[in-house]
Amino acid sequence: MSETLAVDGGAPFRRKKWPQWPVHDEREVEGLRAVVKTGNWGGFPSPNVEAAKFAEAFASYHGAKYGNCTASGTTALEVALKAAGVEAGDEVIMPALTFVATAAAALYMGAVPVFVDIDPETWCIDPGEAERAITERTKAILPVHLGSRIADMDSIMEVARARGLRVVEDCAHMHGGFWDGQGVGSIGDLGAFSFQNTKLMTAGEGGIVLTNDDDLDARCHAYVDCGRLRPEDKPAEAQGVFGWNYRITEFQAAILRVQLERLPEQVEHREANKVRLTNALDGIDGLSMLKLDERITQPSGYGYYFRYHADHFGGVSRDKFMVALRHEGLLCYGAFYEPVYKDKLFAWQDTGVDYDYSRVSCPNASCPNAERAAYEQSIWIPHELFLGDDADLDDIITIIEKVTTAWAP
Ligand SMILES: Cc1ncc(COP(=O)(O)O)c(C=O)c1O
Repeated sequence: MSETLAVDGGAPFRRKKWPQWPVHDEREVEGLRAVVKTGNWGGFPSPNVEAAKFAEAFASYHGAKYGNCTASGTTALEVALKAAGVEAGDEVIMPALTFVATAAAALYMGAVPVFVDIDPETWCIDPGEAERAITERTKAILPVHLGSRIADMDSIMEVARARGLRVVEDCAHMHGGFWDGQGVGSIGDLGAFSFQNTKLMTAGEGGIVLTNDDDLDARCHAYVDCGRLRPEDKPAEAQGVFGWNYRITEFQAAILRVQLERLPEQVEHREANKVRLTNALDGIDGLSMLKLDERITQPSGYGYYFRYHADHFGGVSRDKFMVALRHEGLLCYGAFYEPVYKDKLFAWQDTGVDYDYSRVSCPNASCPNAERAAYEQSIWIPHELFLGDDADLDDIITIIEKVTTAWAP
C-alpha cells in the first residue's frame, strides 16, 4: 500500500529548504565595493567601464560581436525590436506561451503581437505556424527559448530570410544555451536577455541585447542612451533614433561580471541534474518529457517543464497534482505562463474606451497546444533546485514518485 500523501493529511516528504537563488559570494561584494570607491556609479558615459567589459564578455561567450546592456529584459526586447525597425502598426509574430513582457515590448511601440501556437514537442514557437501567420505587415519573428528548450532556429531563420523578416530571440530563459554550436541570442538578427532576480544570471534587474550587425549595434546603443551616437558610430547607422535612458548601472555590471564567471559551472551542474531527473521521470506512466532537440549542443534553461497526463490518473487535474507535489515539499508551479492572449492586456475591447483596439485584442485567439500545456499538462520546477546535490535531486524524484504511485490506476 502506498503512503498517505501530505495533501491527504500524511507527513510531507521534505521540510528542508531547497537551494536558494541568487547564488553569490565575496566576489559580488568585492565588485560592488570597487565600484563604490570609484565614484563612477551610473551608466553614463555609455557604455561605462564595467558595463563595457561585461557586455563584451557576455557577447563573446555567446558568439556575438556586440552587446548593449539595458535596464531590464523587457527594455532589451523593446530596444531590439526598435533597432530591427519595428514601428507602430507592424506585426511581430511570437509564441502564445511566454511571459507577458514579450508581447508588451511590441505593444509599447504600437506594434501588434501576433500569437501563434507552440510545437507540442518543445513548447517553443512552431515555425510552420509562424510562417502561416506572415502578412504584408509582418516585420519580425520573435522566438522565445522557453524553459529548458531552444526554439527551432534553423527553421525560423529559413522562414524569416525567405520573407525578408528580422528575427529577435527572447533569451530571458537561456543564458549559456547553444544551438548547433552557436550561442543563443547570436543566431537571429538580435537577441534579448534578462538579468532580473530569478534569472540564470542576475543583478537584481538588467538586460542585454546581442547582435553581430554593426548598424543594429549602433541603433541599439542609441536607443539605450538617449539617442546618442558613440564616437565610432556613423550618423547614418542610428538615424532618426528617439532614444530613452535604458542604461545599466556600474553596480549591476560589476555583479554581472561575477555572475558570468559562475555561469558555465552552474549550467553544467543543472543540466546534469536535469538529465538524471528526465531519466527517472521517463519511466513513470502518466508523465512525459519534452523533446530535447539534438541540435541543442549546450542545453541550459530557467525552468524545467514536464507533462502530466490527467487521463492516466483517472482525470485528476494537473492543478491537483501540483498541489499534491507542493504539500510534499516540492517547489513547483502549474500554469507558470498562460497563453498571453488570455492576459487582461488584451481585454481592451471591453473597456469602453473610444478607440479601435480590434487589431491588438485577441478575443478569438486560440492556440490549442499552448492552452493544453498551460492549463492541463505543465509542471515547472525552478532552476535553482537543480543546483542542489544528489540528495536534493533524489528528493525531487521521490516526491514525484510518491504522488504518482499513490494515484496509479
Ligand atoms: C520570456 C521572458 N521574456 C522577457 C522577460 C522580461 O524580463 P525582465 O523581467 O527583466 O523585464 C522575462 C522575465 O521576466 C521572460 O521570462
